[in-house]
Parts: sequence; C-alpha cells; structure tokens
Amino acid sequence: MTDKLIIFDTTLRDGEQSPGASMTKDEKLRIARQLERLRVDVIEAGFAASSNGDFEAVQAIAHAIKDSTICSLSRANDRDIARAAEALKGANSARIHTFIATSALHMEKKLRMTPEEVLEQAKQSVRFARNLVGDIEFSPEDGYRSDPDFLCRVIEAVIAEGATTINVPDTVGYAIPELYGNFIKNLRERIPNSDKAIWSVHCHNDLGMAVANSLAGVKIGGARQVECTINGLGERAGNCSLEEVVMAIKTRRDYFNLDLNIDTRHIVAASRMVSQTTGFVVQPNKAVVGANAFAHASGIHQDGVLKARDTYEIMRAEDVGWSANKIVLGKLSGRNAFKQRLQELGVSLESESEINTAFTRFKELADRKSEIFDEDILALVSDESVTLEKEQFGFVSLFQQSETGESPRARIVFTVDGKEVHSESEGNGPVDASLKAIESHVQSGAEMVLYSVNAISGSTESQGEVTVRLQNSGRVVNGVGSDPDIVVASAKAYLSALNKLQSKADRVAAQG
Ligand code: KIV
Ligand code: ZN
Repeated sequence: MTDKLIIFDTTLRDGEQSPGASMTKDEKLRIARQLERLRVDVIEAGFAASSNGDFEAVQAIAHAIKDSTICSLSRANDRDIARAAEALKGANSARIHTFIATSALHMEKKLRMTPEEVLEQAKQSVRFARNLVGDIEFSPEDGYRSDPDFLCRVIEAVIAEGATTINVPDTVGYAIPELYGNFIKNLRERIPNSDKAIWSVHCHNDLGMAVANSLAGVKIGGARQVECTINGLGERAGNCSLEEVVMAIKTRRDYFNLDLNIDTRHIVAASRMVSQTTGFVVQPNKAVVGANAFAHASGIHQDGVLKARDTYEIMRAEDVGWSANKIVLGKLSGRNAFKQRLQELGVSLESESEINTAFTRFKELADRKSEIFDEDILALVSDESVTLEKEQFGFVSLFQQSETGESPRARIVFTVDGKEVHSESEGNGPVDASLKAIESHVQSGAEMVLYSVNAISGSTESQGEVTVRLQNSGRVVNGVGSDPDIVVASAKAYLSALNKLQSKADRVAAQG
C-alpha cells in the first residue's frame, strides 16, 4: 500500500515574497498554467487581502485553472478570510489557508497578544472560514519554535473547528531534519483528533536544510503534504525546492514509498519560466534544474556514462524536461512548427495575437542567430512585450560606440506611454552609457543593487539574459531582458525594472 504525497506549490505567494520577485497578474497566470501542467495538487496563488493586485491575480487563477486546487493565504481575521473566499469564488476546487503566530516570541513581540487570545482567534477564524469554503488549512506561524503543549491545544482546537490540513511551518529555517520529523510525529501522537487532518510541512532554507527537513517531516513525522516553490524561491534563503523534493521522493521511491501526481517532464520549463519572470538566476550547480545538473565534465564520469548511464546518473535528464536535442528551430521554421514547439515546451500563449507577436520576434531572432534553442524560445515568450501588457516604458532601438581609449557613448530610443524618446549619454562602458541615457530622461532616482548577465544557452552565440535589481523608496524590483546583444539586453532589463517600479504595489506583508 502506498500513500499519496500532496505537492502544495507556493511560488506565487511565499516565493513572491523574495525582494524583487513580485509578479504581475499575467505573469502569475502564466506560471499557474505551468504549475497545472506540472500537475501540482495545490497552487497557493497569493494573499488576496494584501493588495488589489493580488486579489485580482488569485481571482484570475481561480477562474483559469481547473485541475489544481487554488488556495489563498489569509491572516486569521474575518476581513482577510472573506476577501480570500471572494477571490476564490468560481474555482473548481478552493482552499483558504489561514495562519497566526504561536511562538512565545512572535505572540509577545509581534502580535502583542496572550496565548489565550491567539488560541481564541485561531478557533474563531477557522470557524468563520469553514462556513465559506470546505477546504481549510491552518498554519501556526513559527510553529517549530512554539511550545509543544500550547501548539497541541491550538491544533486540536482548530481541527475541532473544521481545519482539514495542519501545516507546521519552520518559518525561520531553524529546524534540523531528525528534530523536525520527531516534532511533527509527537504532535500527531499527542493530539487526539490528529487523524482528522492531513499534516503538512513548510520549511525555509536559512540553514540550507529546507528539503532535508521537509523529507524528514514526511518520513519520520508522517506528513502527507509538502509546501515548496520552484527553484526554492522565497524570502531570505528561500523555501523548500519543488524540483528537489519531488525528484527525491520519485528517485528514492524504494525508501519513501509514496505516490506523486507530478508530471516531472515539465520541471525544467517551470524553472526557466520562474527564473526569467522574477530575475532570480538558477545557479549552474543547482540540483535537477541547474545547467550542470546532468553535465559530466570529468573523463572518468563521461566514460562511465557512455558505457552505462546509471554508473553516474541517478535520474534521467529527459524525465525532468531537459531535451536531448536542444537545437529546435531556425530561420526557415514556419508558424506551425513554432506553435508546436511552444506546446511541447508546455507554453500556452493566450491569444492568436500573442502567438503572432511571439512568432514575429522569433523570426527577428532567427535572422540574427542561426540556431534557436529551447531556452531562447522560453526567454522570448516570457518577455513582457509578447503578452501585450501595457507598460509605461518600452525598448525601441539602441546605438552604442566603444573603442579602446575612447569614452563609450550610447544613443537610445525608447517609448514612454507610447511616445518615442531619444536620449544619449557617455558612460564607463557601453552598458553604463545606455542605462545612463535612459536614466537621464526618466530620472527615477532608483539605486541599482544588482546587475547580472547570464548566457541563456552556453556559447558566445547565445542570447544574453540580464537581470537588473532596482531599489527606490523601500521597494525592490527585478527587471529581466534578453537579446543576443548584451547591451540591448541590459537596456531592456532596465526598462522592465522601471516598469515594475512604476506599478502600484501597496501590499500588506504576509508575516508583518
Ligand atoms: O513561513 C511561514 O510561516 C509561512 C506561513 C504564512 C505559512 O509562510
Ligand atoms: Zn513561509
């Protein structure tokens, strides 16, 4: 007999809490579609009460996604819960996830509430939520650092009020695998009605143990839901990474003996999409989705793999979506071939006009670059100009000049609310000159806190993918741009970051 392990993805909620990772409604919708293709069981689409933007994103995802349960986070108060229920209306399957902190530190210093008040609020909130939606998850925030006796009282009470999933967060990433596993096991053994709920793990990665802790929560603690994010995205050091936890359960089925719904062939596309949307680059040696994850550089390894693959490979690259033949299309490829490749990559563009825009851009790219790789296509479709979103700033063209001993100059044309603007500047290098030319017109005053260039597909022929992180008035945003010319990619990334800075985002922090 095997049990099923529920995969609860929180890329769009906890992942989005990383500085600069905030996403637009359309970006979230695109990622939600990819998560549905991955066959994720539950998608935490956002925190509906945090902002109008998040409310609309949860609402749009609840309408569009049919095969996964859609969840909204909500603090433990009636207003947040009602807002979550409202956003989830129309979902095929909806869940409200409500939380309140239970550690002595959080209750005293953050909430300024007594344990008895927290207990009452937790009960009242679950009761209220249960009248709106049947599927209720409750999280005692900072649960792992909470007093076990108090936690038992809270959890027993919320199960009695109708909570169907109990999630035990290691909010600050303090746990150690064996201790966390036993913590959950003890709670389950001590709480008389613990069998009336599914138990869930939610681990942060501050000590690099989020995946190990989650797996211990499953194996030792008996949890049957794991909360995770694509690429381990999340605040500070991030969350438990979906691709790692899923491949661990699948590859070591002999040990875990658990079934999963996940279609792992969509993992790499999901990873690329999240990285390109948020500007959080995946490190090359990242397990499963890093560019080197299946590359064998040493002669001994290469020799072994050629003789028998399983000498050094415990998973097959194609099982997680790395395609064997990566050169896919070229200059002569037609619209149908392009459309089919998009489908094979698991990308669905919303409308014919989006496909047409993407195809035009594909043709432009194919004129400049003879071989088009999957990564190029994914970069192209994640570019915001394909989805026809109305953005304040748009790239038009760039001329730049640099020569040894001369000061580099750039002349750029871009649009501001649809009107063309011409601007030029000198700089320390061509990238600096181009960004200064933009800034001299826009005068955003933003501080650049990160600039990184990454080759999308390995060689100098590759497109460059640039991430620019800007900070202004306490807000941090990431912009991403790609182009075979890295100066152009940089200008696109800068404009994309400016667009994000302009967008209104008066959001309430989930754990604030
Ligand atoms: O880390 C945490 O405690 C959370 C809760 C809101 C579940 O993200
Ligand atoms: Zn969290």
